[in-house]
Amino acid sequence: MTTEFEVAVIGAGAAGMMCASVAGQRGRKVVLIDHATRLAEKIRISGGGRCNFTNRDATPQNFLSQNPHFCKSALSRYTPQDFLSLVKRYRIGWHEKHKGQLFCDESAEDIIAMLKAECDLGNVQWRMPCGVKSIAREGERFRIATDGGDILAQSLVIATGGLSIPKIGATDFAYRVAKQFDLKIVAPRPALVPLTFDGNAWQPFVPLAGVALPVELETGQKKTRGWFREDLLFTHRGLSGPAILQISSYWQPGTPLTINLLPEVDVAETLIADKGSVKKSLGNQIAQWLPSRLADEWLHTLGMDGAARTADMPDKTLRRLGESLNRWHIVPAGTEGYKKAEVTLGGVDTRELSQQTMMANRVPGLYFVGEAIDVTGWLGGYNFQWAWASGVAAGQAV
Ligand code: FDA
Repeated sequence: MTTEFEVAVIGAGAAGMMCASVAGQRGRKVVLIDHATRLAEKIRISGGGRCNFTNRDATPQNFLSQNPHFCKSALSRYTPQDFLSLVKRYRIGWHEKHKGQLFCDESAEDIIAMLKAECDLGNVQWRMPCGVKSIAREGERFRIATDGGDILAQSLVIATGGLSIPKIGATDFAYRVAKQFDLKIVAPRPALVPLTFDGNAWQPFVPLAGVALPVELETGQKKTRGWFREDLLFTHRGLSGPAILQISSYWQPGTPLTINLLPEVDVAETLIADKGSVKKSLGNQIAQWLPSRLADEWLHTLGMDGAARTADMPDKTLRRLGESLNRWHIVPAGTEGYKKAEVTLGGVDTRELSQQTMMANRVPGLYFVGEAIDVTGWLGGYNFQWAWASGVAAGQAV
């Protein structure tokens, strides 16, 4: 049996529901297809269950892409304020956390229910759970063979996201469709992800698991440089916390990170200047700035005696300590991979798409939205803002 629609959207996540609801409310006959049994699982688990649904300060500078200008048009036409207006219209309680991050007061379920209601307002038809077997061009339309029969649609929107968290249904579907239609892909890799280190090299830091502190960190150079000031967390296998998740999107395998564990203090200069007046031991002096467990382990790893008085230490030794704390160079071995990554960097090459509509330039009627595209936001609500904005851009065009 074949059912005809004007628009078929595959993937009922953030971008797919947004796109379907906008198209439906424009009067288009829309079907939304998803293979999952539970709706929008990624929204449900996002933001620790409270969904960091946008960032008040989102600008194109908060996104990575091989083609950094691509996201500008969609982001300027559907802003964080627009999404917040929708949230307010549904009387969903929200609050701002640090750095412009907006969260639900109660639950991410409120955002899912809101998007579902918006789809209902647009009379969107659902096929879920429903697997997609194949897609084929048929004249100017697309034939989509699904577990529930064939669908013919004039416009086809691929909103199946990236590869992160395969256990809740992430697949490479969007990349396969892109390849089928001969569209280029920017090699995907895990991003916003904890970094791991070689077992032996990490051994000295294993006892620090659980220690957290604010740091400044950077990697890369010039156009590929990433720099953040956020909290860092030591884990059994490596480093995590917002600072590491952010920098992981910029980190290239084999290259170092430079971490300033004490951004507020020039350690060497301060210790040397204090030599005449401060009678404390070296251990006590650095423990006033660092968590004591970290201070102890750090001195131990450097082979320095924490009980010795700073005043008795050569300047050269204090400089070595200062360098290690203010400019800790460390080369990660890898990442925790897609099972822990919040997003996927790379995806459908934006040079293949229209920045106004998200339609493939060479395949009229075929659209890609959301995380499937090579546009990746920072941690902090930016990725949902991209999902909403790209979904709206396509929803207005299909
Ligand atoms: P999304 O992944 O939301 O949806 C894709 C849909 O396609 C899914 O419903 C899936 O089942 C379906 N699908 C996949 N393959 C299919 C196939 N072959 N056939 C049919 N259907 C298929 N971002 C943010 O801004 N704020 C936050 O708080 C968080 N928090 C967060 C926490 C965690 C743990 C993760 C993993 C991620 C986040 N994110 C986030 C990122 C955010 O969730 C993500 O960027 C968006 O959900 C992407 O939206 P999309 O609609 O593109 O894909």
